[in-house]
Amino acid sequence: MWCLELLLPLLLIINDASCQWNVWVPRDISAMTNSCVVIPCTFMYPSGIRPYRGVHGIWYFGQPYPQLFPPVVFKTRTDIVHESYKGRTKLLGDLHQRNCTLLINNIGAEHSGRYYFRADLGGANMYTFPDFSELKVLDQPNIDVPEEIVSDESLELTCYAPDNCPDMTPEIQWMYTDYLPDPEFSSDYLEESNTAVLSSTLTFTPRPMHNGQLLGCRVYYPNTTLVYERLISLDIKYAPRAVWVNVSSEVMEGSSVMLHCEVDSNPPPKIFWMFGDQELLWDTASNISLALDDVTPAQEGIYTCVGDNGYGIMNTSLYLAVKYPPREPVVNDSMTVQEGTSLALHCSTQGSPAPTLTWLKDGELVGTITADELSVLEILEITPQGDGQYRCLAENEHGRASSSLNITVEYAPVFLEESKCTVVREGVQCVCMATGNPEPTIEFYLPDLNVTINETDGRYNFYTHTDGHTSTGMIKLREKGERIDNGPAVNVHCSMFNMYGRESVHLELQQEKKYMMAVIVGTIGGVAVIAFIIAAVRYVGHNNKNVQASERVSVITSGCLLLSGRLCCSLSYAAILTKVCIFIVTSSPPFFFRK
Ligand SMILES: *[C@@H]1O[C@H](CO)[C@@H](O)[C@H](O)[C@H]1NC(C)=O
Ligand SMILES: *[C@@H]1O[C@H](CO)[C@@H](O)[C@H](O)[C@H]1NC(C)=O
Ligand SMILES: *[C@@H]1O[C@H](CO)[C@@H](O)[C@H](O)[C@H]1NC(C)=O
Ligand SMILES: *[C@@H]1O[C@H](CO)[C@@H](O)[C@H](O)[C@H]1NC(C)=O
Ligand SMILES: *[C@@H]1O[C@H](CO)[C@@H](O)[C@H](O)[C@H]1NC(C)=O
Ligand SMILES: *[C@@H]1O[C@H](CO)[C@@H](O)[C@H](O)[C@H]1NC(C)=O
Ligand SMILES: *[C@@H]1O[C@H](CO)[C@@H](O)[C@H](O)[C@H]1NC(C)=O
Ligand SMILES: *[C@@H]1O[C@H](CO)[C@@H](O)[C@H](O)[C@H]1NC(C)=O
Ligand SMILES: *[C@@H]1O[C@H](CO)[C@@H](O)[C@H](O)[C@H]1NC(C)=O
Repeated sequence: MWCLELLLPLLLIINDASCQWNVWVPRDISAMTNSCVVIPCTFMYPSGIRPYRGVHGIWYFGQPYPQLFPPVVFKTRTDIVHESYKGRTKLLGDLHQRNCTLLINNIGAEHSGRYYFRADLGGANMYTFPDFSELKVLDQPNIDVPEEIVSDESLELTCYAPDNCPDMTPEIQWMYTDYLPDPEFSSDYLEESNTAVLSSTLTFTPRPMHNGQLLGCRVYYPNTTLVYERLISLDIKYAPRAVWVNVSSEVMEGSSVMLHCEVDSNPPPKIFWMFGDQELLWDTASNISLALDDVTPAQEGIYTCVGDNGYGIMNTSLYLAVKYPPREPVVNDSMTVQEGTSLALHCSTQGSPAPTLTWLKDGELVGTITADELSVLEILEITPQGDGQYRCLAENEHGRASSSLNITVEYAPVFLEESKCTVVREGVQCVCMATGNPEPTIEFYLPDLNVTINETDGRYNFYTHTDGHTSTGMIKLREKGERIDNGPAVNVHCSMFNMYGRESVHLELQQEKKYMMAVIVGTIGGVAVIAFIIAAVRYVGHNNKNVQASERVSVITSGCLLLSGRLCCSLSYAAILTKVCIFIVTSSPPFFFRK
């Protein structure tokens, strides 16, 4: 028996089963549209059955049972087949040889589905085998693409073409492979359960530049017009290979700036902007823009854009410089120092670009100009001339600012050359002038009399005046009672002191006519003016309701001094000591001195 030929003695029990109703068809089979397919088929029926009037068979589509009226694909008893199979089908096998192999020509998509064979041995011996062959009709070849394609790793792509049509043998070609680096092709032929598949494998190492490019597989049958193509777009994963950011730039404080970053990677990265260690902004995108508004100097620095897509990480940095005018410089507080002290004055500020720092004293440049955050002005052993206002000026191209401090220099009295005694009409007038800080106190000493005369000493016509750091003292010595010899015998010492020192100088007696004239003119002119002032003061006093009319108010002048065009007199009025100064012009004597 044919069925026993296939069997091994050890499988005798199963053997019996295989000699029952049985069919062998490929579970799956595929074909290209418009080509043909041969479904290989063999079957078996119980050995006890004697076919009555030949062996017949029917191929059904979709359903195994005639009761459901499935489309008839082929029927040996009649030529009646379903319309969609008319002229397309042919039984290649010999049913007497239990060979039910079926050919379907000019196949279309509508022919995809299950095919069932039904054996008809006559009488009641009809049987539809439950095993079926499922046909897939393809209009494109299949390409096996790995789920993940990673750049720089070897890639294999396989394209498949079914080869189940005996008269037509397919060929496979890869398309658009010209741009690929060293592509390799290999073909394979796979036979399985009586079906055949032709395949072609393309091997190459993709690069990031191949991402998104098209590749194609073409299947065709030589000497026919049948061509099938499938195109795929390569999705090549690659680590960020470039991160573009703006070039480093400068912005003015208070303005706005947009920093742009773009990353080339697949898939798009998690992209973020960092400022130092601080993460400012992130997104999952190929680009990101960081907007900075109202920029402050604290925002100056390195900005880094980082792209990370899981396949790699990359970053690029830029430097953002924030420009601003100098801030008000910080300088030392005003100070009072003693002559001879050495000082270091500090001036510091910020600005961008770095400001230049200049020290000015009372408007004049002192020290050097520095382009540093800090400028130190060294003053060695300060002199009284060092007294004044020190200004530190900071400048850059965006503006300027300055701060100042005052230095007060304290020093021991210094005798001034203008000091002298001169002969006047009433006797001798001595003027003593000195500078010092604090302003010196002036006293006169008459060695011949062993008398020291100071401001509180009412016996002498003493006048003092201070103007800034200059003190002037003046006494008038009358011949009468003060035993002054007429002429150079006058012996007057001027003594000046403050907390830092004391000096005593012998005053020379001078008899300079011109100067005397000036003094006389000044004195006479001044007396006239003072007389006027006295009258005015009395008038005011008289009208002052707060002063009792009966009270005798007297104004006494205790001394006058002519100094560089000014006549100053000490007046005491109602027990209040005041000083009055009047400017007088001595270049041409007032009219009332003409004789
Ligand atoms: C069945 O018939 C086909 C077509 O004639 C033939 O190619 C195939 O080899 C046969 N199968 C067997 C098992 O004899
Ligand atoms: C195609 O046809 C040519 C001549 O017409 C013949 O030489 C060639 O062998 C055929 N190729 C195939 C695959 O049938
Ligand atoms: C950065 O580049 C983007 C576009 O390239 C531009 O719009 C932006 O103004 C640039 N920003 C700076 C600070 O240059
Ligand atoms: C920036 O990314 C957005 C999506 O996040 C995209 O629509 C846009 O085209 C990108 N711009 C550039 C210049 O790549
Ligand atoms: C940027 O990349 C360099 C190395 O390429 C790395 O040393 C540095 O830490 C990275 N910076 C950031 C902010 O990720
Ligand atoms: C000025 O200030 C600086 C720092 O504030 C200080 O070091 C310096 O001694 C000060 N100079 C004087 C003269 O006080
Ligand atoms: C310095 O002195 C001047 C007057 O001489 C005054 O106007 C100014 O305010 C002083 N500056 C400081 C910082 O004390
Ligand atoms: C001067 O007078 C003082 C007292 O006022 C006295 O002590 C001193 O001895 C006198 N000097 C002379 C030289 O007479
Ligand atoms: C003036 O001198 C007298 C003694 O001669 C003294 O007591 C007084 O304190 C002095 N006054 C001043 C302001 O120096």
